[in-house]
Amino acid sequence: MSTIKHVAIIMDGNGRWAKKRFRPRIWGHVRGSGVVSDIVEAADEVGLKSLTLYAFSTENWSRPLDEVSTLFKLLKKFLMKEKARILSNNIKFKVIGEIANLPKDTINLIRDVENLSSNATGLNLTFAFSYGGRAEIVRAINNFNEKNPGTAMTESDLSSLMYRPEAGDVDLMIRTGGDQRISNFLLWQMAYAELFFTPTAWPDFSVSEFKKIIEHVSNRERRFGNVSAQSGLDETAEQAQSNKSLFAKGANV
Ligand code: FPP
Repeated sequence: MSTIKHVAIIMDGNGRWAKKRFRPRIWGHVRGSGVVSDIVEAADEVGLKSLTLYAFSTENWSRPLDEVSTLFKLLKKFLMKEKARILSNNIKFKVIGEIANLPKDTINLIRDVENLSSNATGLNLTFAFSYGGRAEIVRAINNFNEKNPGTAMTESDLSSLMYRPEAGDVDLMIRTGGDQRISNFLLWQMAYAELFFTPTAWPDFSVSEFKKIIEHVSNRERRFGNVSAQSGLDETAEQAQSNKSLFAKGANV
């Protein structure tokens, strides 16, 4: 069984893909939105628990108006086209980010699909839209402080206050389009993620490349800061505790 449960993708390279073909940048987004459906279907097929797609960052608001509005329209179109499939395939859908400034009908459609799919038990499908990783962390800290004034926060408190805690930590982050950055995406959840950067532009990204990357990364050894793949987290925690108390007693080893 694969250790990869949560895959997050930065769908980059749409604009350059279109420019190479002497088409406007938005053409790249239109072609890219078709790929989204294929990858969602493949994620479900390979048994992922969560798939998170970066569709619009907080920084993307500063793009030309026609590009911003095309991205909103593509989100709406996707939901209208895929709503029935999301529901019949037991997919639990959610948008994360600050979407209050999106067109009202798009917000209503998002809320409708979120509500209708809220009891699904299959793939957690998340679109990060008007999303920023730092803003998500600050929002979580403010929520915690408001409810628990003067209390020290733990890591698990913060994890539970992310937009979508049930999606879990990211196991694998894929970025298409050739750049090697994480661009303010899921900063908290990616602490131990494997990173994979492919030169393929998003409109050319295929199900076959997606599956190959998952298979390739499944074979990497993930040590989570340890020296080798120990069998379980309890064992690791015990070792750490024993090392700490040895040094606390003044050990000089
Ligand atoms: C980055 O490419 C991509 C985006 C900012 C948007 C990603 C959106 C889609 C793939 C389509 C949206 C679809 C749905 C269903 C919501 P870029 O424009 O920055 O590419 P570049 O680096 O080549 O300029």
